[in-house]
Amino acid sequence: MGEKANQSQKDITGFRPPEDFVRNAIVNDPDIYRRAEEDPESFWEENAGGIEWYRKWDRVLEWEPPHSKWFIGGKLNACYNCLDVNLDQHADKTAIIWEGENGDIRNYTYKELLEEVCRFANVLKGMGVKKGDIVTIYLPMIPEVVISMLACARIGAPHSVVFAAFSGDSLATRIGNANSRVLITCDGYSRRGKIIEQKNKVDDGIRSCGLIDQVIVVRHMGNEITMKDGRDIWWHEAMENSDSSCEPEVMDSEDMLFLMYTSGTTGKPKGIVHTTGGYMVTTQTTTKFVFDLKNEDIYWCTADCGWITGHSYLVYGPLSNGTTLVIYEGAPDYPDKDRYWDIIERHKVTILYTAPTAIRTFMKWGASWPQMHDISTLRLIGSVGEPINPGAWLWYHENIGMGRCPVVDTWWQTETGMIMISPLPGITTTKPGSATLPIPGIKAAVLDDKGNEVAPGQDGYLAILDPWPSMVRTVFGNEERFIETYWIKWDNKTYFAGDGAKKDEDGYFWIIGRVDDVIKVSGHRIGSAEFESILVSHPSVAEAGVVGKEDELRGEVIYSYVTLKSGIEESNELKKELTAYAEKNIGPFARPRQIIFSDDLPKTRSGKIMRRVLKAIANEKDPGDVSTLQDPAVVEMLKEKTRMLESA
Ligand code: PRX
Repeated sequence: MGEKANQSQKDITGFRPPEDFVRNAIVNDPDIYRRAEEDPESFWEENAGGIEWYRKWDRVLEWEPPHSKWFIGGKLNACYNCLDVNLDQHADKTAIIWEGENGDIRNYTYKELLEEVCRFANVLKGMGVKKGDIVTIYLPMIPEVVISMLACARIGAPHSVVFAAFSGDSLATRIGNANSRVLITCDGYSRRGKIIEQKNKVDDGIRSCGLIDQVIVVRHMGNEITMKDGRDIWWHEAMENSDSSCEPEVMDSEDMLFLMYTSGTTGKPKGIVHTTGGYMVTTQTTTKFVFDLKNEDIYWCTADCGWITGHSYLVYGPLSNGTTLVIYEGAPDYPDKDRYWDIIERHKVTILYTAPTAIRTFMKWGASWPQMHDISTLRLIGSVGEPINPGAWLWYHENIGMGRCPVVDTWWQTETGMIMISPLPGITTTKPGSATLPIPGIKAAVLDDKGNEVAPGQDGYLAILDPWPSMVRTVFGNEERFIETYWIKWDNKTYFAGDGAKKDEDGYFWIIGRVDDVIKVSGHRIGSAEFESILVSHPSVAEAGVVGKEDELRGEVIYSYVTLKSGIEESNELKKELTAYAEKNIGPFARPRQIIFSDDLPKTRSGKIMRRVLKAIANEKDPGDVSTLQDPAVVEMLKEKTRMLESA
């Protein structure tokens, strides 16, 4: 193969996919876009053929805005489509290569994974878990997290996976909202060689919510824990005599597959409801198309199962394609900064899907780390979770993709369930920093406040114009919030994504970031209101305004402007205490970067804190017209305080 055929060709508009990649790509005919646009329902219907159904659907779509139903009347089981369907051809193929932070390796073939899943499904059934009961999973990245998710799907019990680094209180809030009675957790897990005492967090957290009847505990680190009689049981003991076959529950296409909590604009996280049929069809299809997934690939998505990426592109999409996946438990710099590249070399990873914060961190650490390893097995690399700046994109392409791997910058959300805007690696010319084009079957636009499309190059709001199969069905137990958050902005049938964006002359999308009060710290979604309500629950705090400040490494960091109760003195100790308090109440990833004390905050005349103004102040930008504030002088005072911090 000539050098030219191997390298991405840079031309005026961007990077064209290498010729040999195009030749072998699963999707390389641009006509797919036209076909899908002309008849999206037929397009999705055609792709639904990749899933095994117990009963075929009667109709593809019922759209009563903003409610959609897909593959109506269709019956299927998600777990069956991830495991059983692979037994004919791939029973002994490795499904999971798991690597612990300490270097332990556990592999599962498809057959072994199915057996484990069935055994655990029987454990759940034995505990009385039935179709429709929501099971909460609070596990780190160990094989049992995947086994638990699939076991729930097998018996039709929707799972709610709570990110393991969340605090016990955050866990309890989610358990309470889901009304979950069974929890799956572990003794502890490893982070940079330190044991995180997971079970202790559980004990603290669920004491207050009083809902959980049974806790199943995976023994992972062997750290000492307390087992509560009558409530807590060990995973390995429960599994001991459990049968390794379990009939999958026949689920309706519109039955709930899982709940995923995410932060929004109000104080409480919202439970995003995903159903079975449409979700399985689109995650299977997009994993195949966007990652050009082939039978021999070794695929590594570094996301955690506590987030949507871990659901769609670590579990359901890849396994329903019969893929071999790598799962890594720990930190990228443990024991050293080359851990990722070492994993890629040893397991011969061909596809890597990671986040811009990680990429920017690798960039800071320097190319010498990947250069210590042979990572030439890589053939495609992806990015997700936040805007990737062109500099990081180019570094990734050059140093990890060796100038020849297509880069797929994929835009999507917990609510969309699937990748919505992304290159198709065998077709799309990429431009560093742009997620490029909506994938076939998706219609997106950039609109102004009134719902009119803005001109190329102009900023606007990202909108999805037509329904898609894996769209959020509702906010669990809060239909009103579903409508308010996503639909009322325009006409009740155009989806408001909460992101700012622009389109260029070629129709390429450039995502700017959140326009609502959601902060993205290293790709984690944190709601301003959620954070503020935690701060004001501290006995010293009267009021708080929390905003994101742009950060080179993490995308955004948290700036908290805090007014103390009268009589409480400002001090560095109190800053530390509030930082620790926020960390304890949400999790270590939500550590505020700055806490700025202030006697007053920018407020409207009716007393509402103006986060827009605070955000401008934190980012040292012009806050615009502040004449309508209760006290415009506050702005100058806060600007000065922020400036002083920056120069300190
Ligand atoms: O702001 C966008 C950003 O992440 C948000 C969704 O966050 P979450 O629901 O946690 O899901 C993350 C994983 C899919 C979006 O509203 N975002 C996600 N991907 C990109 C992105 N921003 C820019 N470019 C992306 N590729």
